[in-house]
Amino acid sequence: MAVKITCPSCHSSVDPSLHNCSQCGVSLGLAVALNNTAFPDMVLSMDVRIAPETLVPRLGELLIERGFIGFEDLEAALDFQREKIAKGEPCLIGQALVELGFVNQYTIDEVVTVQIFELQHKLERTNRELEQRVAERTADLQQALLKLTELNRLKSNFISNISHELRTPLTHIKGYLDILADHSLGPLTTSQENAIEVLLRSEERLEQLIDDLIQFSLAVKGELNLSLEALEVRQLVEAYLPQTLKKAEGKEINLEILLPSDLPRIVADEDKMQWVFNQLLDNGIKFTPSGGTVALSAIQEQDLVNFTISDSGIGIPEERLSEIFRPFHQLDGSVTRRYAGTGLGLAMVHRILEAHGAALSVDSTPGAGTRCMFSLPIAGIDHGG
Ligand SMILES: Nc1ncnc2c1ncn2[C@@H]1O[C@H](COP(=O)(O)OP(=O)(O)OP(=O)(O)O)[C@@H](O)[C@H]1O
Ligand SMILES: [Mg+2]
Repeated sequence: MAVKITCPSCHSSVDPSLHNCSQCGVSLGLAVALNNTAFPDMVLSMDVRIAPETLVPRLGELLIERGFIGFEDLEAALDFQREKIAKGEPCLIGQALVELGFVNQYTIDEVVTVQIFELQHKLERTNRELEQRVAERTADLQQALLKLTELNRLKSNFISNISHELRTPLTHIKGYLDILADHSLGPLTTSQENAIEVLLRSEERLEQLIDDLIQFSLAVKGELNLSLEALEVRQLVEAYLPQTLKKAEGKEINLEILLPSDLPRIVADEDKMQWVFNQLLDNGIKFTPSGGTVALSAIQEQDLVNFTISDSGIGIPEERLSEIFRPFHQLDGSVTRRYAGTGLGLAMVHRILEAHGAALSVDSTPGAGTRCMFSLPIAGIDHGG
């Protein structure tokens, strides 16, 4: 039975005496040499002795080129080889040429060695070209990264500049609305008072939005510097409480603040943590239907105070929990979405807590509610830096 080997390129079964694959035409020696993964397969799948010339293409032609044999000699050797193979005796072309006395083994080895060197040289050149291409692509990628970083910087500069610019006229609007609302500019009819109430709420929302954008642009620029101090938790929570209560009452939501009276002070940045509590309570109220409950509780555990902000709201499906920290992303991103917001709140909460060395963990059950938890160190203890 004729011995077959597997072409390392197209994997079809080929006669080992051929220099080129009868199916795909690839030079078998070169393909094996270039395909070092296919080589062991080939060795395993073939039942013939591996000689250097198996790996080297065009041995016969090369011997003719170098004047060691004539064309007729090669023809005769090929016939001889075919006969041997037909008898089930594997025979390489070099072996046939030696057996027929056209060349000696030394010449074969010499020519094969030359070809191996040439192959090696080609491989090295290919490797160098590949390395060069990888280096070029890496440089392209680095360039693209630099561009993106620059664009990102421009974007956050833009957000921060525009936010500061928006704040000034807004302060004027709020000032005049307050004066109007407290009747300093004269008495108001009930409908005028209602209208001003709506204007004030919208102004508050705008102000909040601008604050979020400013915080976000600072965080993106890596300028989220904390000024850490010992703080009373109650004071932190109460900073935004009037607005939070108003929102909760507006939606008929029961707001519970459960702080033990002996809760120790914590180490945190005052403004930023006030903002975090506000955001988490805001989410709780926003994503809880009327009649539900939103609660903030704190409890000391060794050197930490553990905070939990829970709600009995719509919840978050488990497979979407990872999305909630993406900036400018809301789970309901549709045009008809029911909940207002830019999708920045949790992205910022995450960054602020991270800067405090804390992590926000969220667990949620759709239809039942959500719990956001994090811990901050208590004051007066060396927390190791
Ligand atoms: N308590 C919660 N219950 C249910 N879903 C929530 C809750 N908190 C956050 N999510 C989901 O995560 C998304 C991202 O929250 P995030 O606070 O970042 O944005 P937002 O509240 O929509 O807008 P913003 O905070 O900028 O006003 C929300 O849009 C909502 O889909
Ligand atoms: Mg929010």
